[in-house]
Amino acid sequence: MPALRVPKKEAEPVKRKLKKLNLYDGKRRPKREDDFVLLPVIEDERVYSLGYEVLPIELPLRPERQIYKNLESVLAERLSEEELKYLRRYDVIGDIAVIQIPPELEHRVEDIVWGLRKVHPFLKVIARKGFHEGAFRIRDYSIIWGENRLETVHKENGVEIKVDLSKVFFNPRMKGERYRLAQLVRDGERILIPFAGVLPYALVIARYRKVKITAVELNREAYELGLENIERNRKRLKGEIEFIHGDAFKVLPELPSYDRVISPTPRGVEALALTLSKARKWLHYYDFVHENEVNAFRGKILEECSRQGKRCEVKIKKVSDFKPHVFKVCADVELGVNSY
Ligand SMILES: C[S@@+](CC[C@H](N)C(=O)[O-])C[C@H]1O[C@@H](n2cnc3c(N)ncnc32)[C@H](O)[C@@H]1O
Repeated sequence: MPALRVPKKEAEPVKRKLKKLNLYDGKRRPKREDDFVLLPVIEDERVYSLGYEVLPIELPLRPERQIYKNLESVLAERLSEEELKYLRRYDVIGDIAVIQIPPELEHRVEDIVWGLRKVHPFLKVIARKGFHEGAFRIRDYSIIWGENRLETVHKENGVEIKVDLSKVFFNPRMKGERYRLAQLVRDGERILIPFAGVLPYALVIARYRKVKITAVELNREAYELGLENIERNRKRLKGEIEFIHGDAFKVLPELPSYDRVISPTPRGVEALALTLSKARKWLHYYDFVHENEVNAFRGKILEECSRQGKRCEVKIKKVSDFKPHVFKVCADVELGVNSY
């Protein structure tokens, strides 16, 4: 099997592209070589037309465990079919796994810990997740195995994000969404990100684009971790990030307008008018919408645009499931010239 020799900085996007084209060989491990990464690809003519050197080498196979085993198949050894139906999706954030355990599996906590450790031998902490609470959207967690901490460093889209799950909001499932935004952004843009948390959106965009970002966050713990994250990633970032600690509803009115505003709005907070008022060309507004309310949501945005004298085109994209019939969505609002 051949390998594609790609400069380290381009490895992540090229890997995604290869996966999209079904050319990536997930059974093998990539390998670092100085400032390059060798990405395993399948034998296919298309790999020779991607603009990278193709080397005729056999990269090492991944251990079988990592290819074939997922939590469900591992736990099938210990749980009944009926019990397996209650198994929820889990997340791995750095070296911490977080999983929701429903009452029906209360008596299986030890087995679930065993299964997670088998699938992810590098884990140091396993925590049970409760619900998001308060304006800072911090989840309630209880540690069920491992070290007594909820602080870790998560790697995503070529950046390192330090989080403390007991103090800040962080959702690793938004990785693809952050990458999507980074691809929409062009060099030279000025971007505003209120509700910025520990800066996952800002870091990923600044990693790929030469932009100037202003981010705003109210939770002091998230703000401090965000500052640490800027330093931690300093050498990787093409763009600049200015981080303001404060209430978006007080800070934004004092700021100028920006080419693009990204609002990862906390659930239950209404910030459409505020964030739209600061956007010149684009607003990406996140909200939670019932499947029957998507048109009403679009209508609300069009109405606010017209109230602010802005012409706009709205595309609504489902980002993730939230609960039955309710989705997290992103409204991509493209703003034209003033119509009044
Ligand atoms: C849904 S979280 C998104 C965080 C981050 N963008 C991410 O995706 O990880 C919303 C964030 O808004 C912050 N927040 C809540 N109210 C705020 C306000 N009035 N001004 C600024 N930030 C606020 C919370 O502390 C939280 O970090």
